[in-house]
Amino acid sequence: MLIIKNRKILFALATVFVPIIFLSQCINTAPRTDPRGTAYAEEHTCRQCHQAIYDSALLTAHFNASAAATLQNVPGHFNTGHNSFIYDSITRVQIEKRESGYYQVLYKNDIAQESGRFDIGFGFRHAQTWLYWNNDQTYELPVSYYRAVNNWGTSPGFSATIPNFNRLIGVDCFECHSSYISTKKKAAGDYFSKAGEPELLEKSSLVYGIDCQRCHGPAAQHADYHVQHPDIKVAKYIVSKQSLNQQQKLDACAVCHSGNDKRKLRSRFFFRPGELLADYFLPSLSPDSSRAFDVHGNQFNLLKQSKCFLGSNSMTCASCHNPHNRSTNGAPGAENIAAYSQKCMGCHTEAAGNFCTVDVVPGLLLQDNCIDCHMPKQSSNAISFQLSGSTDLSAYLLRTHRIAIYNNLTRRKNESKDH
Ligand code: HEC
Ligand code: HEC
Ligand code: HEC
Ligand code: HEC
Ligand code: HEC
Ligand code: HEC
Ligand code: HEC
Repeated sequence: MLIIKNRKILFALATVFVPIIFLSQCINTAPRTDPRGTAYAEEHTCRQCHQAIYDSALLTAHFNASAAATLQNVPGHFNTGHNSFIYDSITRVQIEKRESGYYQVLYKNDIAQESGRFDIGFGFRHAQTWLYWNNDQTYELPVSYYRAVNNWGTSPGFSATIPNFNRLIGVDCFECHSSYISTKKKAAGDYFSKAGEPELLEKSSLVYGIDCQRCHGPAAQHADYHVQHPDIKVAKYIVSKQSLNQQQKLDACAVCHSGNDKRKLRSRFFFRPGELLADYFLPSLSPDSSRAFDVHGNQFNLLKQSKCFLGSNSMTCASCHNPHNRSTNGAPGAENIAAYSQKCMGCHTEAAGNFCTVDVVPGLLLQDNCIDCHMPKQSSNAISFQLSGSTDLSAYLLRTHRIAIYNNLTRRKNESKDH
């Protein structure tokens, strides 16, 4: 490393270089304000050149995986009779609209005890839960909204008999549901808090949702270059999808879609396309092939158990999902099974001799329904919730990514031969 000891030389160098750096920044772009650092462009600059992708991505579950709660974006019922969760005859949590936002308020014998404001919303497609800020920490509110029942229920893991406003939510949830938040008082290079140390979050550094640069990596240099070279049509200074192998492509999704049971080596926030999960987590000890992975949050490991995945050497999440489109055109909870079935028929055709062998039930259009039979909805073991006044657990249903023959669903064509 070059060490300059002479102050005069240092000053002379500074008078030459500082204005150059300053000028080049003026020419390039607006000042960088992204909390992730100057390597990150302002998100909206991507729209200049990638308008269609940008406008479509804004509507996806990823972009809305977390958001500042406002009076406009909180789903659910707020009218009397539909806005309370009853814990017992004297205890309820009521959802209230006030000038400063929505609140969950705990009442005992109609006397308000404690409350939390809807500050941050987590979740979009199936459910939404809310956090409130208290100093430099976030806490989950006891009641969440579930789209399948269009109603309030206990937040996942919360009691239906004892209201709790003290569930601390650390940086972990943000690593999968947002693009960034920094932790305070860390030593250089030390992102994780030591055991016993409170994990304090830097409120102003929160980047909501999963944005372009969360998936593609920092892109300020890319954006600057193309602003200055509008005639260049080949992407520069950004990881190209052509350069990634199958495992790298899978890992770019699996960083958030392969469960949360592995020991972390580094924060997920620092993952960049092209890197491998093995650099971020210690391998799990039990063999993956025989484990029962949950349908919630672990699409990667379930897909890896499918014959489709094992038999083809090119399958990635993008074989079926367009990461820039909402998976449906309708309401967030809706599905578009027929369109996904077309993806199956990209590999499975009569002509190739690997088409479905089931006896078709009259009136059922096989071609529109591959998904319901081969990727059925299953109940999550990790998430369940309770409705107000109910002692039963309500199932949280998600599609399994272990694509297979689920015999209980249909009669086999060759049933007679089997027995
Ligand atoms: C001034 C124009 C411009 C801006 C601003 C811009 N890009 Fe690009 N980008 C391009 C061009 C040109 C290409 C190459 C053609 C293509 O793939 O569309 C490209 C390609 C890409 C690719 C595809 C790389 C590949 O080969 O697979 C990604 C990803 C990308 N840009 C991300 C971004 C992100 C994220 C932002 C915002 C931070 C951004 N771009 C801002 C011009 C721009
Ligand atoms: C930073 C973490 C993260 C990364 C990286 C990520 N996801 Fe997600 N994904 C999520 C979260 C969180 C949700 C839940 C969003 C919600 O509904 O609130 C989600 C939801 C989804 C959904 C369901 C929503 C819908 O519209 O259908 C699909 C499909 C999906 N992700 C596919 C992918 C694919 C494919 C990739 C890789 C290209 C990927 N994800 C990368 C975190 C991530
Ligand atoms: C390892 C990544 C990861 C972590 C950590 C994580 N989640 Fe998620 N979460 C996901 C993914 C992926 C989905 C959507 C797909 C699914 O359910 O399989 C999801 C779904 C959700 C949903 C339902 C959203 C919807 O509509 O589908 C909520 C609410 C949620 N998470 C809250 C939390 C909270 C609160 C925490 C922290 C206690 C947390 N998550 C931690 C990855 C994660
Ligand atoms: C959930 C992760 C994710 C998010 C968020 C995301 N992308 Fe992508 N993007 C991908 C993946 C994966 C590919 C490669 C798709 C493939 O292999 O077909 C891709 C491909 C691209 C390409 C290459 C052209 C194409 O369509 O294949 C461009 C350009 C691009 N993305 C820009 C953006 C911009 C701009 C944003 C923000 C508005 C964005 N992406 C948000 C994952 C993401
Ligand atoms: C990239 C190509 C590809 C795609 C896309 C694909 N598959 Fe497959 N699938 C395969 C291969 C290869 C096999 C294994 C064939 C073998 O082992 O003989 C397979 C096997 C299967 C099997 C037999 C499973 C078993 O346990 O016997 C079913 C059922 C199946 N696929 C259904 C689907 C459905 C439904 C979809 C869409 C959601 C789909 N596939 C998408 C390539 C694909
Ligand atoms: C062979 C096709 C196929 C592949 C490959 C695939 N998916 Fe899916 N995925 C589907 C279908 C079909 C659905 C159900 C349609 C829907 O929910 O919109 C789905 C739904 C999802 C959901 C929402 C689950 C729910 O019930 O709401 C998530 C999250 C998801 N996929 C993530 C991934 C990830 C991550 C990968 C790669 C590890 C992946 N998928 C690979 C076909 C596929
Ligand atoms: C009504 C439920 C149902 C629907 C819809 C359905 N399948 Fe099947 N599929 C089955 C059953 C059950 C079997 C096992 C039949 C047997 O044992 O012969 C099967 C077998 C298969 C196999 C294995 C064939 C073999 O040679 O072993 C593949 C591949 C397959 N289906 C793909 C598809 C695709 C692609 C679609 C959509 C075009 C589809 N299936 C729609 C129920 C269904």
